[in-house]
Amino acid sequence: MALAKIVYASMTGNTEEIADIVAEAFENLDLEVEIDECTTVDAADFQDADICVVATYTYGDGELPDEIVDFYEDLQEEDLSGKLFGVVGSGDTFYDEFCKSVDDFEAAFNKTGATKGANSVKVDLAAEEDDIIRLEGFAKQIAEALN
Ligand SMILES: Cc1cc2nc3c(=O)[nH]c(=O)nc-3n(C[C@H](O)[C@H](O)[C@H](O)COP(=O)(O)O)c2cc1C
Repeated sequence: MALAKIVYASMTGNTEEIADIVAEAFENLDLEVEIDECTTVDAADFQDADICVVATYTYGDGELPDEIVDFYEDLQEEDLSGKLFGVVGSGDTFYDEFCKSVDDFEAAFNKTGATKGANSVKVDLAAEEDDIIRLEGFAKQIAEALN
C-alpha cells in the first residue's frame, strides 16, 4: 500500500486541523497515512513515503514558523525523485504575504526532484466547508497522480 506522509507546523491548531483533513481524505482513498508535527521528524523521513505533504502556517511578515526552519533547510538537500509532493497551509488574508510559507515549501520541494501532485491549497484561518472540499480535491488529485 502506498504511503502518504504529512508533516505539519501549527501554533493555534488551524494547520493541524488542515493536516488532519488531508490525512482523512488520503485514508478514504485507501492510502496508508503518517502524520507528524515537524519538530518530531527529519526531512529524510520523506524517503519512506510515496507522497510527501507539508502543511504550514505563516508567521512574522511572511516568515516560516521558527520550528519548521530546520526541516525546510534539510528538505532541500533530499533527493525525492520519483515521489509526489503537495503543500497546504493556513494564513490570514489580513497580511500582505498571505500563506507565503506555502509558496516557500513548494519552491523547496521543487529542488528535491519530486513531482508536484496537486496545486497548493491556502486556507484563510480555520478550514470551512469550501476549504474542506478543496483539501479533499487536493488529496484526490495527488492520489490519482500516483496511479
Ligand atoms: C504574529 C503573527 C504574524 C502572522 N503573519 C502572517 C503572514 O505574514 N501571512 C499570513 O498569511 N498569515 C500570517 N499570520 C496568520 C497565521 O498564519 C494564521 O493565524 C494561521 O491560521 C495560524 O495557523 P495555526 O492555527 O496552525 O497556528 C500571522 C499570525 C501572527 C499571530
